[in-house]
Amino acid sequence: MGFNLKGRNFLALKDFTPKEIEYLIDLSAELKSLKNAGITPKTLEGKNIALIFEKPSTRTRCAFTVAAVDEGAHPEYLGRGDIQLGKKESVADTAKVLGRMFDGIQFRGFKHETVETLAKYSGVPVWNGLTDKYHPTQVLADFLTIKEHKGYLKGIKFAFVGDGRNNMANSLMIGAAKMGMDFRIVAPKELFPEKELVANAKKIAEETNATITITDSVDDGIKGVDVIYTDVWASMGEEAEFERRIKLLKPYQVNMDMIKKADEEVLFLHCLPAFHDRNTEVGEEIYQKYGLSEMEVTDEVFLSKHSVVFDEAENRMHTIKAVMVATLGK
Ligand code: CP
Ligand code: NVA
Repeated sequence: MGFNLKGRNFLALKDFTPKEIEYLIDLSAELKSLKNAGITPKTLEGKNIALIFEKPSTRTRCAFTVAAVDEGAHPEYLGRGDIQLGKKESVADTAKVLGRMFDGIQFRGFKHETVETLAKYSGVPVWNGLTDKYHPTQVLADFLTIKEHKGYLKGIKFAFVGDGRNNMANSLMIGAAKMGMDFRIVAPKELFPEKELVANAKKIAEETNATITITDSVDDGIKGVDVIYTDVWASMGEEAEFERRIKLLKPYQVNMDMIKKADEEVLFLHCLPAFHDRNTEVGEEIYQKYGLSEMEVTDEVFLSKHSVVFDEAENRMHTIKAVMVATLGK
């Protein structure tokens, strides 16, 4: 092992060295094999874990819950409206209270500042389950999935296509820089990532031999890539933006024409949930309003041999388990 991450927070990948990230991915693979063999080492026995959710979640909530129970911990779900967080009690005071009762805290919500404040005042490990800025546990699952299918991460040609300034684009850019990938954001200029974040990624890339490219050209960005990744065109809390985003992002939809520009063995990844058909309330509403039956990815790509989205979803659990075990386990 050789890595001691005990007591650490997991707020953003920028806080971890490439070796530490690699260690977490390898630990995830190890815990996955153990679970497949029916073994759950119970390294979190007797621990109590708070799961604070300001926004809805399927994967992250279930991953934290199942991983905690597998390892012998007790997870407590604290949803929007269940606790006073920020409403009648400051985030700092809430952090101090929760830190006296719980051994670890997961936060999913809006402001990244909230998760930082929880970490600053709680005195226990805090894990970021998604903020408007970053979604780092998702990136661990994405990288584990790529490693399982391709065998390596360094040098992988990776294109993130779509809303180039959302939490997934930000986290993947930093993660890819840390892991030495050839990373491209392919997005309209209006949705390019913040300049400061790109500068940070490029600085990391100097040490890892990664390359970071931001382009609005699908042809240039996708050519020969090993991985195409996309995410929703409007993130949670941005639903009012759909009309504008559809106009901007329609040329960036992941469809078979785009897949053909990539390597023939290209993997398709998406953090999910995805709008690839009309089988959701929102998907149907968008169809009725704008006549679009698929948004960021076509059903054809989503269901194709290139798509590893459900491996990726499963890996949320193994990677989140690794984060909790590494930072809090016996
Ligand atoms: N990918 C992801 O974070 O999914 P949930 O929003 O369902 O947790
Ligand atoms: N960018 C998306 C990710 C969902 C997992 C959102 O924030 O809604």
